[in-house]
Order: sequence, then C-alpha cells, then structure tokens
Amino acid sequence: MRKRSPALLPLRLWLLALSVWPAFLGVLAADLSKEPFTIRISCGSFDDVRTSPTNTLWYRDFGYTGGRFGNATRPSFIIPPLKTLRYFPLSDGPENCYNINNVPNGHYQVRLFFGLLDNPSLVSEPIFDVSVEGTLFSSLLLGWSSDDEKTFAEALVFVQDSSLSVCFHSTGHGDPSILSIEVLQIDDNSYNFSPSWGKGTVLRTAKRLKCGSGKPAFDEDLHGIRWGGDRFWLGLQTLSSSSDDQSISTENVIAETLLAPNFYPQSLYQSAIVGTDRQPSLSFEMDVTPNKNYSVWLHFAEIDNGVTAEEQRVFDVLINGDTAFKDVDIIRMTGERFTALVLNKTVAVSGTTLKIILQPVKGTRAIISAIEVFEVIPAEKKTLPQEVSALRTLKGSLGLPLRFGWNGDPCVPQQHPWSGVDCQFDNTKGNWIIDGLGLDSQGLRGIIPGDISKLQHLQSINLSGNSIKGNIPTSVGTISALQVLDLSYNELNGSIPESLGQLTSLQILNLNGNCLSGRVPANLGGRPLHRARFNFTDNAGLCGIPGLRECGPHLSVAAKIGMAFGRAGGKDGRTFFAPKNSLLQGKLLTQNQGPSSPGMCK
Ligand SMILES: *[C@@H]1O[C@H](CO)[C@@H](O)[C@H](O)[C@H]1NC(C)=O
Ligand SMILES: *[C@@H]1O[C@H](CO)[C@@H](O)[C@H](O)[C@H]1NC(C)=O
Ligand SMILES: *[C@@H]1O[C@H](CO)[C@@H](O)[C@H](O)[C@H]1NC(C)=O
Ligand SMILES: *[C@@H]1O[C@H](CO)[C@@H](O)[C@H](O)[C@H]1NC(C)=O
Ligand SMILES: *[C@@H]1O[C@H](CO)[C@@H](O)[C@H](O)[C@H]1NC(C)=O
Ligand SMILES: *[C@@H]1O[C@H](CO)[C@@H](O)[C@H](O)[C@H]1NC(C)=O
Repeated sequence: MRKRSPALLPLRLWLLALSVWPAFLGVLAADLSKEPFTIRISCGSFDDVRTSPTNTLWYRDFGYTGGRFGNATRPSFIIPPLKTLRYFPLSDGPENCYNINNVPNGHYQVRLFFGLLDNPSLVSEPIFDVSVEGTLFSSLLLGWSSDDEKTFAEALVFVQDSSLSVCFHSTGHGDPSILSIEVLQIDDNSYNFSPSWGKGTVLRTAKRLKCGSGKPAFDEDLHGIRWGGDRFWLGLQTLSSSSDDQSISTENVIAETLLAPNFYPQSLYQSAIVGTDRQPSLSFEMDVTPNKNYSVWLHFAEIDNGVTAEEQRVFDVLINGDTAFKDVDIIRMTGERFTALVLNKTVAVSGTTLKIILQPVKGTRAIISAIEVFEVIPAEKKTLPQEVSALRTLKGSLGLPLRFGWNGDPCVPQQHPWSGVDCQFDNTKGNWIIDGLGLDSQGLRGIIPGDISKLQHLQSINLSGNSIKGNIPTSVGTISALQVLDLSYNELNGSIPESLGQLTSLQILNLNGNCLSGRVPANLGGRPLHRARFNFTDNAGLCGIPGLRECGPHLSVAAKIGMAFGRAGGKDGRTFFAPKNSLLQGKLLTQNQGPSSPGMCK
C-alpha cells in the first residue's frame, strides 16, 4: 500500500482483491452527524457517474478491485441507469469482494443490483451467492434476470469495525456480475422487531409491497427522507391474481409518518388495497426458503371514507394460519383516521410459503397499505483478525495461484470457506480460528513466511509436493498445537531449525524430498518417538540420525548435487555440469508437477 496523507483522505474506499490506489473519495468529508452516510458504487466504471432524474452520484470502482469490466444490459426497468458492470470469472477465484473502509460504525442497508454482461457470446445468466460482513444473505436462482424484484439483493446489517465487506461467491454457474453497490446508513434502531434483534442479526429484504398503486417506487419518489435507506417498493393493485381486490387512495395528509426509526414516507399510506363485499378478506402469499424466521411488517391507515369510527372495521391477521394480530381496529389503535399504523411480527416458517390473511371479524372488508417481509439471518462471527492477516501474508509469500481467490473472510460464510484452510469455531474467543492448512500439490513456488506462526492454532500443515524454496522458518517451532507438519517434496534448503524440537505434540514430520542440509536437531532426532513418524530422507545433506549419514567433514553443496544428478542420469557426477543436458531439462519441467528430488537443489 502506498502512504498517503490521512488529512486529504478522511474516507477511503478500498475495493480489495487486488491493490489499492490513493486520491479518491476525499469529497465525502461531509458532516456525518446530520446526514446518513451514503456510498454508491458504479461497478466496472472508469469514472464517477451521475444518474438522472435524481442526479445521484455513483463512485467508480476502477483501479480498486479485481475482476473484469464490461458493458451491462439492463434486465429490468428498476435497475439504476448505469452502463457498466464488473464480473468475476471463476479462474480469478471463487470469492471476490468489495471491502469498503472508513465506514462509520452503525446500521446500514446494503443493496446490490446485478446485471448481465452485454456480450452476445455469453448469453447465460450467472447464478451465485452474496454475503455481507461474512453472512450469506442471497443466493440467486435461475430466472432472476427476468424478475424485477430479483435483480437486486438487499440486507440490513451492522458495521462494527469501520469496514464493510460484500463478497460474491461463485457456484460454478457463470461469472458473478455486479452492476452497483449501495451502502446507505439507516437508524440504529430500524426494523428492531424484538429484544432478540441486534448486532447479531442480518435482515434480508424478501418482499416490499406498496398496495393500491401499480407503480413501483423508491422512497425518494415517495418524498421519503434519506434515513429510510431509499427502499424500493413494488406496486400492487391486487394481493393475489385470483382475487378482485380493489384499490383506493386519498390526497389527505397522513399523520404519524416519517417517524424514527423507520421513516416511512407519507405516500405509502395514501393508497391501499381493500377487499370486496363478495370477498371481504384479503390474502397474500409468497414463496420463502423453509425453516427460517421471517419478520413481517404490515402498514395500515384508515383512508376509506366509509369508515369513520371505531368498530366499523375490525379484522384479524393470520400468518400461516396462526393469529398474529387479533381484532385490529385501525381507528381505535391510532386514535384517528388518516393516521399510519405499523405492526410487526416475527414468525418461524417451516414450509415454502408464507401466507398472510386479513380476516374481517366486525364491520366492513379488510384493508392494507403496505407489506414488508424480511428473512431473519443470524450474523456470522468472523475469523480472528490476526489469523486473517497471517493468511494474507501466506497467500503472497507462497504465491498462491489466482484461482484460489482467498478474498473476504477465510471461514465465513460457512458455505464458502477458503480452499486449503480448515476452520474451527472457538467458543471462548467467539471467533473462527484456523486449525489446518492443506496446500499440498498446488504448484506453489514461493517461500514459507515467518508469519505462518501467527496461525497459532494450526494442528496440521501440509505443503507437500510443491516447489517451495528457502528455509523452514524458525518461528514454526512456536505453533505449539502442531501435530502434523508435512513439507515433503519441495525445494526447501538450509538446516532444520532447532525450534522444531519444541513441538511436543508433533506426530508426523515429513521433511523428506527437500534440499535440507546439516544436522537434524538433537531434540528432534534423538527424542523417543512414541507413535510419531518422522521422515528426513532424500535431502541434500541431512545427517546425524540413524538412517542418514553421519555428520562428517563438510561436503560442498555442488558436489552433493552433482552426485544426486549423477545417480538420476546413470552417469558420473560430472554430467551435472554438462550444458543443456536434455535429461536435466526434462527433469526440470516435470518437477513442477510432481515431487522434487534432491537433484533440484541449488
Ligand atoms: C462498451 O460500449 C462502448 C460503446 O458504447 C464501447 O466503446 C466499449 O468498447 C464497450 N466496452 C466493452 C468493455 O465492451
Ligand atoms: C415490533 O413489534 C414489537 C412487539 O412485537 C414491538 O415491541 C416493537 O416496538 C415493534 N417495533 C417497531 C419498530 O414498531
Ligand atoms: C427462529 O427464532 C427462534 C426464536 O428466536 C430461534 O430459537 C430459532 O433458532 C430461529 N430459527 C432460525 C432458523 O433462525
Ligand atoms: C500431504 O499431502 C500429500 C499429497 O496430497 C499426501 O500424500 C500426504 O499423505 C499428506 N500428508 C499427510 C501427513 O497427511
Ligand atoms: C537456499 O536457496 C536460496 C534460493 O532458493 C538461496 O538464495 C539460498 O542461499 C539457499 N540457502 C542455503 C542455506 O543454501
Ligand atoms: C520417507 O520418504 C521416502 C521418500 O523421500 C519414502 O521412500 C519412504 O518410504 C518414507 N519413509 C517412511 C517411513 O514413510
């Protein structure tokens, strides 16, 4: 990372994955105490963009993140009028993230629009998963691009460490392609549905309907305020296609709107759906994921000129057959006509549908102004930060191929852990920890960094069958829980650090097939090895334990290598020095794939 002046950049957007560049977003140094914090990103864009009719500002992501950019098609009319998108081919890794830093801690609505790449040769619609702050909240399903409501995903989430990460997880069906990301601060108490709600809860917007007007609208269109998160409301004139519900509306001022914490706009209550004389009840049904909790928010206002007093309209609200609210009498509950009433109820749903019925019990037909349904998702705990940063160092030092990805959090979402990393939940710390590293036979050509020891909970390391060079870091001896250390078939050189002798839990130590030299530490080789299996064979010049040669007078490395090649080639030691020996070349090439031999030691 480059050094830059913090004064110039009170706010930096770090769209990670690749590198980070300076001089950006200094313009956002607004007074955050008054206005909600807002960031909108136009993915795949070279320049900041302003969109009409609201003159909304979208920041470019160019130079901040990985993936590729392309032109977008607009599968639905609600999609913001942006021209570009960013997509993430699987060859670049299964996990790709936007990490947005310097986000004030608080409660946010995060909304992502998905796009389709405008490329006639790529007609397929990608299917992928989306997580925010490590919590999986959306899985795109086939057909999403032809359903307005499914072209975006939205979640309410708390930011607690000044940064927000949004990740896209490939599922092997096309390249995740993202049109825009919006991070919109909302009231800390927004959609607080019960004492069990809080920072451990993520709410996914499953449905948001405005009743009685066919037109969809954002809060902004409804003259809402920014603290509402600029929600999108789908417009509906009937709650179910089979019913002949009626729409009514009013121009009257509605009281009790734009109130904290949810700041619902007044227009939401100026129209409604009502039942008919023939069918006075109202019924609404939606598909849901089974075995989840859903938080249902129902909006009412008495705007019907035929209803002027209590007892004239009383109905029960049933959700999946259970009475959620009994004897709802809007005028009695609000005290007046033209006054907003919001009721919320959280229900556990075991099946695949959620059905809301408004059943009149007294007076006239049922009425409703708006419906919101959220899936309640327990927020994932994250991986211990020092272990995440150690893995990042490891990714660079070992030269992990792009296809590994290793972006976002290593252990969460639990559905998409990093490959090559074993995770375990540590109840005492309340974090995930890394207890295994399995990067065997991956064509790695880097070195093992000393920082590997910051992965203090490792019980097993297998880096066998790569082309890892350099020394075994002394610090490995401090990973005290280590039971398995398999570094066999690499090109490690130097001597075995004495510190490995401190690893009293070690059961398997495979250092065979490397270029190690010098004396096997007495505290390793000389230790009584109950059930433990150590292998030091096939190295350039290890000595000092039974099975290896005695540590005699020092042989030059070149001589040892020469001997090794000599054996391999069936010739004498001098063949090593023969120029452009085809056998040698062949060995050099195949060695990248398979185990190395001491012949590769330099
Ligand atoms: C996007 O479209 C513009 C023309 O509208 C074209 O110039 C540009 O090359 C396209 N970009 C990509 C990446 O296809
Ligand atoms: C949601 O409903 C609960 C009762 O179930 C109530 O205590 C809470 O205040 C309601 N939340 C809002 C924001 O209206
Ligand atoms: C639903 O909520 C109940 C009560 O808070 C909780 O015990 C249960 O684990 C939740 N179920 C899911 C799937 O989150
Ligand atoms: C390490 O990985 C190699 C190659 O996949 C495998 O053969 C070996 O058994 C593993 N080592 C241990 C100790 O499991
Ligand atoms: C180990 O190998 C590296 C090159 O990979 C070399 O620079 C270094 O000098 C070698 N160290 C020893 C002790 O042989
Ligand atoms: C030790 O490694 C060598 C190859 O380097 C292998 O041939 C041998 O079987 C291994 N010994 C044991 C006990 O696993």
